[in-house]
Amino acid sequence: MEPKKQTIIFVLIAVISTAGIVAGVTYVIMAPTPEGEVDALEIYHWWTSGGEAAAITALVDEFITLYPDTTVQQVQIAGGGGFEMRVKIKTLMLAGQPPDTFQIHNGYEWKIFYDAGLLDNIDNIWTTELKAAVPDVVEDISKGPDGHYYSVPVNIHRSNVMWYNAKVLQYNAIDPATLTTWPAFWAACDKLIANGTSGITNPVAMGEQWTAAHAFEQVLASVGIDTYEAWINGDIDSVSATHYADLLTACEIYENLTDYINSDWAVLSWDSAIAKLIGASPTAAFSIMGDWANGEFFQAGWTHGVEYDTIGVPGTGNMYGLVVDCFEKPKNIPHPTNVNRWLAVVASKDGQDAFNPLKGSISARTDANVTKYGPYQTSAITDFNAIDISPTSYMFPSVVHGSGAPEAFNSDFIPLIGALTSGAATATATATAIAALASTYASDFIKVWSL
Ligand code: BGC
Repeated sequence: MEPKKQTIIFVLIAVISTAGIVAGVTYVIMAPTPEGEVDALEIYHWWTSGGEAAAITALVDEFITLYPDTTVQQVQIAGGGGFEMRVKIKTLMLAGQPPDTFQIHNGYEWKIFYDAGLLDNIDNIWTTELKAAVPDVVEDISKGPDGHYYSVPVNIHRSNVMWYNAKVLQYNAIDPATLTTWPAFWAACDKLIANGTSGITNPVAMGEQWTAAHAFEQVLASVGIDTYEAWINGDIDSVSATHYADLLTACEIYENLTDYINSDWAVLSWDSAIAKLIGASPTAAFSIMGDWANGEFFQAGWTHGVEYDTIGVPGTGNMYGLVVDCFEKPKNIPHPTNVNRWLAVVASKDGQDAFNPLKGSISARTDANVTKYGPYQTSAITDFNAIDISPTSYMFPSVVHGSGAPEAFNSDFIPLIGALTSGAATATATATAIAALASTYASDFIKVWSL
């Protein structure tokens, strides 16, 4: 794919040779399991909700069809966003007991393992065919600072989606097409509360802390792509930084949003939050969530455009927030042959077209068979392609979901949004603290994003 606006400049760029890579994949697919290597595969992931579990099962089934003799063990560690699973993975990796392969977000999130020398280079999986199929913005974050590949993307989720219950909006005469600014959105929420007729007192469904930080990230993008870019480049690092005032504005808008959320947000999983929109008696009308939410509507038997629908988060209609899940190959694993086979299936058109229609995401490959995708994803694919070629539309990588900024920065940033959400911190205190974090972790910001 031709690069457009999403240029990522790595601190170190190494030249890799593609010669022999195609041959490498042929070997991966055809070779028998070497003598002495048990024919098994252990896969760690955090996909436990209805839609998520259906999607990973479909992908594993693709593998089993090709390798029926292999014993595949899925190790599912519940906890949306993978925060619980990554604690476990870190323990295993640092103890020298790496799992065969594990899910993680692409980019910064796996860099700690790269830095510790614990990941295997998987240039053999990145064939010329795969490179041609994956958009540059995703291919770039699959490489380490040494220019070699260390991850295989399985999807592209969109982060800046506002989900809504279409019947509730219709009943209250709210036209979703008008909700392109925050004031218009507040007015719609006020109307729902004032009408009181559809049982909705807290119009916006919110879940636990990371989903709050996820929502904040979209608000920040809505303030302006330049601000978001400065943020992920670590440039908003003090109250005197150029875009500090915009960061403060985002904190203020977000504070306003919290006036409309459910009081039990802190203890709700992301899918429990989405469930507030679904069913015969919904208790919320809107939710800001990545498009893994689509899998839940799908499991409920709802049709996009009928019972539920989507708009861009106000102010982000010309943007595509990127959340990319991928798989890794650690060094010194028990079943390296099967991991190579697994990664090749993950990378394949068929594997991605089995997984993504159920997951809510779009394929990380531009040659997806669109007839396999439902109405939400068909429109997401159209949007992705349009945004990719438009000079006035933008893609932005998620920080909460591990690609946009260093992991240490993200870990400390999420609780700051938790405090803003609960009212324990003011917008000013939050903006100051977020800027201070960028200064604390300045040396960890190793990429220069140009969105
Ligand atoms: C992942 C998705 C997952 C969601 C909820 C995100 O961070 O990228 O694949 O469905 O978390 O667990």
